[in-house]
Amino acid sequence: KTYKITLLPGDGIGPEIIQVAIDLLKAIAPKFDLGFEFETALAGGAAIDATGHPLPEETLKLCQASDAVLLAAVGGDKWDTLPSHLRPEQALLGLRGGMGLFANLRPAKILPQLIDASSLKREVIEGVDIMVVRELTGGIYFGKPKGVFADEDGTKRGVNSMTYAAPEIDRIGKVAFEAARKRGKKLVSVDKANVLEVSQLWRDRITALAATYPDIQLSHMYVDNAAMQLVRWPKQFDVIVTGNLFGDILSDEAAMLTGSIGMLPSASLGDPEKPGLFEPVHGSAPDIAGQDLANPIAQILSAAMMLRYGLGEAAAAGAIERVVEKVLDAGKRTGDIMADGCEKLGCKAMGEALLAA
Ligand code: NAI
Ligand code: MG
Repeated sequence: KTYKITLLPGDGIGPEIIQVAIDLLKAIAPKFDLGFEFETALAGGAAIDATGHPLPEETLKLCQASDAVLLAAVGGDKWDTLPSHLRPEQALLGLRGGMGLFANLRPAKILPQLIDASSLKREVIEGVDIMVVRELTGGIYFGKPKGVFADEDGTKRGVNSMTYAAPEIDRIGKVAFEAARKRGKKLVSVDKANVLEVSQLWRDRITALAATYPDIQLSHMYVDNAAMQLVRWPKQFDVIVTGNLFGDILSDEAAMLTGSIGMLPSASLGDPEKPGLFEPVHGSAPDIAGQDLANPIAQILSAAMMLRYGLGEAAAAGAIERVVEKVLDAGKRTGDIMADGCEKLGCKAMGEALLAA
C-alpha cells in the first residue's frame, strides 16, 4: 500500500531530524510492502519568511489531503517579535483546528538503555511505559466566556470557563480505550470530580463508555493524586485519559520521567478516517540548530507512531522502534543522552547507524 505523507520540516533542527526519519521510512518500506509519497510543505518560521504567513493555505490543503502529516518543529528567536497571530507557533494551532485534531497521544516510556543516564531512582522508573491521552481542542483553554472583564465596581476580573460537551468527552474517551486495547489494557481517567461539575460529567461519560470495552480495566483518579502517583510509582499507569488543562500538565510530568526531551514522540488525532499529525515533543532547539548535534530519535519515534496510530501499520512501527533500541544497545548516543562508555554521534551519524541497524 502507498501512503501520501506531508512533511513539515519547519525551523531550527527540524530539517536535520526529519531527513533522518525520511531515510529510515524509505529503507523499511520495501520490507513491509509499503510505499511512501513524500511531499514537503512550508510551516512555521520558514513559511513566514517565504509567504508572510506561518501556515499557508496551500500547506493546510496538502495536509488535509494526505494520509498523515509528519512535522518536525517550528519557532525561533528571529520571529519572536512578530504579533502573536503571525508567530510560527500559530502553525500548530492552525493545523490542530484545520485538521480537527482533538486527541493528543504522548507516550512516556523508559528505555532500559537510558535508565543509568536518568537522575531518578532505578526501582521507580524501570519498566515505566505510560501513554497520556490529552483532549486537545476543548476544556478551559477554549471554553466561553473567556476574557478580562470589569465587575460592576470596576474591578478587573480574568475569566476562563472549563466546559466539555458530552460528545467531546465520548470521542476522546474512545481514543483512549482504543489505545489501551493496543497496549496494557488498563485505563485511568483523571479528573477533579470532587469539586468540578464538568468533571462529574466527564466521569459519567467515561464510565458509560467502559461498557463497550469490557476487556479494558478502567479506574478514576483525581488530578492532584495523579500528579503525586506519577512521581511516586509511575509503573501503576498504562493509559491515562484526561482533559486539556490536566493533560497539558500531566503529559509534561510523565515525559520528564524518561529523561531526554530528544527521545519523546507525540501524535495528534481526530476523526479516524482523517489524517493525523505526528511530531516530536521538543521544539526547534535553535541553540543547537545547524550544528549536527540534534537527537533525531524523537522524530523517528514520531514516524513510528504515524505508522501505528495513523496508518495502521503496526509491524513497520515495531520495526522502527526495534531499530532505535538496537542502536542504543550498541552504545551509540547523541550528546543529550550520552553516558559513560558510550560512543557520541552527531545527528547524521546517528541517522546512518539507524539505517545500518
Ligand atoms: P526546545 O525543545 O526547542 O529546546 C529545549 C532544550 O532541549 C534546548 O537546550 C535544546 O537544545 C534541547 N533539545 C530539544 N530537542 C532536542 C533534540 N532533538 N536533541 C537534542 N537536544 C534537544 O524548547 P525551547 O528552547 O523552549 O524552544 C525553542 C523554540 O521552539 C521556540 O521558538 C519555541 O516556541 C519552539 N517550540 C516549538 C514546539 C513545536 O514545534 N511543537 C514545541 C516547543 C517549542
Ligand atoms: Mg505543555
